[in-house]
Amino acid sequence: MQFSDHAQSVGTAAPEPLFASIADDILQRGFSIVPNALPMALTHRLTDYAQQAVGFDPAGIGRNQQYQQNEFVRTDEICWIQGNAAVTAAWLNWMDCLKSYLNTRLFLGLFSYESHFAHYPPGSFYKRHFDAFQGQSNRVLSTVFYLNSDWGHNDGGELVIYPPDNQPDSINVTPLAGTLVIFLSEEFPHEVLPAKRDRFSIAGWFRVNDSTAQRVNPPN
Ligand code: OGA
Ligand code: MN
Repeated sequence: MQFSDHAQSVGTAAPEPLFASIADDILQRGFSIVPNALPMALTHRLTDYAQQAVGFDPAGIGRNQQYQQNEFVRTDEICWIQGNAAVTAAWLNWMDCLKSYLNTRLFLGLFSYESHFAHYPPGSFYKRHFDAFQGQSNRVLSTVFYLNSDWGHNDGGELVIYPPDNQPDSINVTPLAGTLVIFLSEEFPHEVLPAKRDRFSIAGWFRVNDSTAQRVNPPN
């Protein structure tokens, strides 16, 4: 499938009120859950692309020397996004606009964004984990964007976000196409429940420059 002719139609215009409500959510609660976050055409193209054009590899844990595959923790497959196709370039551009907005509003000092497609074949999961540990990573904000055009309650595969400090209520997110989840990487443990169907998503992280790391106050 060719995407290069569609650079205009995928659309990258990002509505400022949406960015404003994401910033408010992060300030007040440390996370934001937004249905239909991206332009519908871009969501559809990313959904098609993930299912047809992506070469997935087994996912690992950690980076570089610490990298290891561990099928007790996660069984998804991933493919890092470079932005070579028009559709992935549009994705990175949208996230770059969000990064600029959050830096202006929240002074987060976000420096870069990295993301990968993820495919959870039936039976796959990702056990409870943090995306970053205090002081050990420059990942500040985690993002997950879902690419499943219909998803029922019986399909499993929900994202469970646990509150910081062992507070009681966790939140279950249905991985329905168009839903964007953003949370402070060091504050929220989370897990992916076993999926009963093929489940596609994009996981990403806004990072700070190591040498200029700034801290956000955890939500209370
Ligand atoms: C991750 C992750 C959640 C999801 O890749 O680190 O937590 O819902 N993904 O896919
Ligand atoms: Mn995670």
